[in-house]
Amino acid sequence: MTPIKECLINNKTDLVPIWLMRQAGRYLPEFREIRKNNSNFINLCLNSKLSKEITLQPIKRFDFDAAIIFSDILMIPYGLGQKVEFKKNFGPNLGDLDIDKLLEIEEEEFIKNLSPIYELLVELKKSNDLKGKDTIGFVGAPWTLLVYMINKVSPKKGLNNNFFLNKELINNLLKILDRFIKIHIKNQINAGATIIQIFDSWAGMIKSDFDKYLYNPTLSLVNYTKSLGAPVICFPRGISDYSQFCRIVEPSMINIDYNVDPKNLLKNIDIPIQGGLHPQVLLTDKANLRKEVKKYLEIFKNHPYVFNLGHGILPETKIEMVEELVKIVRDFK
Ligand code: CP3
Repeated sequence: MTPIKECLINNKTDLVPIWLMRQAGRYLPEFREIRKNNSNFINLCLNSKLSKEITLQPIKRFDFDAAIIFSDILMIPYGLGQKVEFKKNFGPNLGDLDIDKLLEIEEEEFIKNLSPIYELLVELKKSNDLKGKDTIGFVGAPWTLLVYMINKVSPKKGLNNNFFLNKELINNLLKILDRFIKIHIKNQINAGATIIQIFDSWAGMIKSDFDKYLYNPTLSLVNYTKSLGAPVICFPRGISDYSQFCRIVEPSMINIDYNVDPKNLLKNIDIPIQGGLHPQVLLTDKANLRKEVKKYLEIFKNHPYVFNLGHGILPETKIEMVEELVKIVRDFK
């Protein structure tokens, strides 16, 4: 059994597996090298040979316990026919949302649009490069995808005033997303993903109707993933009550953000926990890194815990700090 599954399924606490969100990304010189010659990010995600290579880059360098496939949560809107672009120094930029067109899209077409992602997974499995490790597939949660699809740019840049007004649009989108996110989960598992992570990066924006936007849509995906026999990790970033989330949604493991008080959470839940460390700690120095990492390792000493960050690794992170992090986690007794 892989180290993460030992932790997730057998509740082992004697070893702490490690991988990092956004481990396949811009802090790696070898990623930047490939990116330099591939200015279209979506096309890069659809190039299964290169996306496989990028997926394996952090494994080769750091021997992490899991690979997360190189892809993006916005591949679902792309697969549904909405235009998605990534502009340099701007981030994602989506085209207009045509709900009538979305309501008509067929499963076959969606799968065809995303087929290179499934090929990447099949090739990964064939190559045996991940022997003894997990292959993490992922999706965006309905709420976060809905935010991008309606707002068309990151909410960091501000929210369209009419955002919450069009209830019919929101209700239709939630239904479509539930259906197609499940299709994407199933196809990733069938192609070789051994764990699924659900990223709800903008969950913290939800201030009311938690059942409708957070709990029900996520629970539907969690139950579905479990029914396919795969563990499922949830990351509802920024929500104020992780314990309540865990009680209602019951993911196989919860990824916490850096604002969560780990000790307090531990008193309230008993499922395995992942993550927490502020990615900015990796921008400080080794002594501080050791101090901050040990805090999490000490607190979770007797609890199934997978080391990870409280959000994605920052592009300015130095390689030697990641090497040091892995060493601290692996040497901890
Ligand atoms: O290593 C991995 O974690 C796997 C690959 C991965 C990417 N995006 C590649 C990527 C994963 C898991 C994601 C998830 C993702 N994508 C999320 C959820 C996690 C989070 O960060 O909250 C979100 C919100 C997105 C949407 C997205 N994609 C944004 C907002 C951006 C631009 C800003 C940014 O953080 O880079 C992207 C681009 C993106 N996705 C890059 C990578 C490596 C950078 C592309 C580049 O410019 O080279």
